Amino acid sequence: MMYPYRVPRSWSETSGQSPLSCLSFQNVTKTYEGAVRALDEVTLDLEPGLLTVLLGASGSGKTTLLKTAIGLVEPDSGTVRIGSLAMAGRTKSAARRRLAMIHQDFGLVTRLSVARNVMAGVCTETSLWRLLLQAYPKDVQLRAAEALFSVGLTASQFNRKARDLSGGQMQRVGIARALMRYPQILLADEPIASLDPAASDNVMQILRRLCDERGIGVVCSLHQISFARRYADRIVAMRHGQVIFDGPPSAFSGERLEHVFGQEATATSTPRLAHPVPAAGKYMT
Ligand SMILES: Nc1ncnc2c1ncn2[C@@H]1O[C@H](COP(=O)(O)OP(=O)(O)OP(=O)(O)O)[C@@H](O)[C@H]1O
Ligand SMILES: [Mg+2]
Repeated sequence: MMYPYRVPRSWSETSGQSPLSCLSFQNVTKTYEGAVRALDEVTLDLEPGLLTVLLGASGSGKTTLLKTAIGLVEPDSGTVRIGSLAMAGRTKSAARRRLAMIHQDFGLVTRLSVARNVMAGVCTETSLWRLLLQAYPKDVQLRAAEALFSVGLTASQFNRKARDLSGGQMQRVGIARALMRYPQILLADEPIASLDPAASDNVMQILRRLCDERGIGVVCSLHQISFARRYADRIVAMRHGQVIFDGPPSAFSGERLEHVFGQEATATSTPRLAHPVPAAGKYMT
């Protein structure tokens, strides 16, 4: 099923201040060793059932923001909350159970079968001996099958080794594994960066559907403006660790694009960046 460009739903009505907000950042600041300020007083409220795209040049803080959301990076100051639960202290593990994350490199164990990769998504609720023996209970097997069907894989693919799949199929397995946790929020760090345009569309359509049909809040970092415009309810653009734009895709003009990506959006030479990124032209697709 295709998801054409959608008019944002509740974002414009609520201006991001909804009491239903499921993921909130309040004045979150993070400075890494070496004095790199990756996040600078970030305050955001992200709602359930909406697809938020994080845009920004390399090093702008997108991954750090996603990592603070799931508790992999501790902010120096400020708070992250999932609903009423703080992502810190005694409520941290309960808060984490409400989230799942997928990555650019899919994070699969490629020598294992598709089904076993997906069943591994329940590691927090399955005993160690079962995990070691990979003896998953029947209900976990059924959940894995349901998750795989929901991302468009067929039963004949369940027992294939993950390494034999295409990139797009691998990312769909990654999403299925994340769904095993019944997340309220799905964080996706550049989920389509390694995929061709057709597979990228397919993965973005699945993320869109998770928002629309299951009410999951998806927060997805991307480099491709075209995909952001096509699939996002809301764009949050970052620069030097700060949020410099927060609004619907229709308000994200070419002028703002240049502000977000600076010279990268127009440069003909490779920009000097913190770590390797795609060529500057990629931002213009
Ligand atoms: N573990 C770390 N130690 C030190 N500095 C780090 C670390 N992780 C990230 N940084 C720095 O923090 C800043 C933000 O990095 P981050 O990875 O969050 O950016 P990003 O927007 O995800 O970039 P990209 O688009 O390249 O993935 C960068 O300057 C980066 O070099
Ligand atoms: Mg990143």
